[in-house]
Amino acid sequence: MRKNWFEKKIDNLSKLSGYKKPDKYSNVIKLDSNENYAVDPSFFQDLIDQTRDKMDVREYPLGGTERLVAALSDYIKMPKETIGVGNGSDQIIDLILGNLASKENRILTSEPTFGFFEERCKLYTIPTTKIPFNGEMKLNLEDFLASSKKADILYLDSPNNPTGFQFPRNQLEKLIQSFNGLVIIDEAYVEFADYSIVSMTRKMDNLIVLRTLSKSFGLAGLRIGYFVANKKTVDAFSRVVQYPYPLNTIAIETGILALKRSKYFADIANFVKKERTRIIKKLREMKVFKVFDSEANFVLFAADGAGQRIHKALIEQGIVIKNLGKVGKHNGCLRVTVGTQEMNSRFLTAIRDLLN
Ligand SMILES: Cc1ncc(COP(=O)(O)O)c(C=O)c1O
Repeated sequence: MRKNWFEKKIDNLSKLSGYKKPDKYSNVIKLDSNENYAVDPSFFQDLIDQTRDKMDVREYPLGGTERLVAALSDYIKMPKETIGVGNGSDQIIDLILGNLASKENRILTSEPTFGFFEERCKLYTIPTTKIPFNGEMKLNLEDFLASSKKADILYLDSPNNPTGFQFPRNQLEKLIQSFNGLVIIDEAYVEFADYSIVSMTRKMDNLIVLRTLSKSFGLAGLRIGYFVANKKTVDAFSRVVQYPYPLNTIAIETGILALKRSKYFADIANFVKKERTRIIKKLREMKVFKVFDSEANFVLFAADGAGQRIHKALIEQGIVIKNLGKVGKHNGCLRVTVGTQEMNSRFLTAIRDLLN
């Protein structure tokens, strides 16, 4: 029997793998998803307690995202009209690709790039050109400049997940300025890096900078993403593309309170950076891994043939990190999130014991 259009559509969707979520383990040291355990859980308990009087969950959160945008505006020092919000930056990526891009557009990005972004390009059948990382897990600016004329959309996560790489500022600025099309710079991890290019949105009308409260603010479970762009883009997105109530009341109120305490989170980001340096140093001292520099809250290292075994042995000891397999030129790549001092020490001790 001939299949109708809907059955064919479902057949095509079924062929896609979709974004593979991490496996769920209970009672483990969870260092596989770039979350932020350095934030004390009691801190959030207090914030959520404080939101209780402010909300009536029987109502739609009318005016809520506007107040959240005002708090974001204070935090990043950009005008309210240049900020839009979404249910995690994942949702913003989805809406941008689904509404602003088309099959006729070609996307230029890195290999590897953020996995969800890649899956979404496949879903919307938007062709991509990918520039690979070199053996040091760095990107070459000239390679991007050479390919940029044939692309309509440039997407870079800066810093990159999973490598932790960020272009030097002058190189990223040059690339953005020379690109003729939509530029999406995903700054999910930017608070752990040395610079942000968010202020470039003041001059560049074709630039969208994605940000999130999932990483440095440790609020992955509340799903609060935002972006910065020129006023016209933000207006079209927020008024027409975005849902009327993309964020729930609890997320909005907790997010606003968290943003008012941004100093606390800046201190946490500094702590994470120090711990990142310690992890990189200790892993390098073991002299068996290729350990890459990182500007994010995780560290990528290559264990060659031992990657799979190390990943499994750590799980048996209750420590979960991300097993990536081949990344660029390196086999057996593993990515560990920076956690609390104790979590990091437990990880380092476990991995050292495995090598003995
Ligand atoms: C580069 C990058 N962008 C965006 C996200 C998603 O962030 P959110 O939790 O705001 O959807 C992640 C999460 O891992 C990420 O690595």
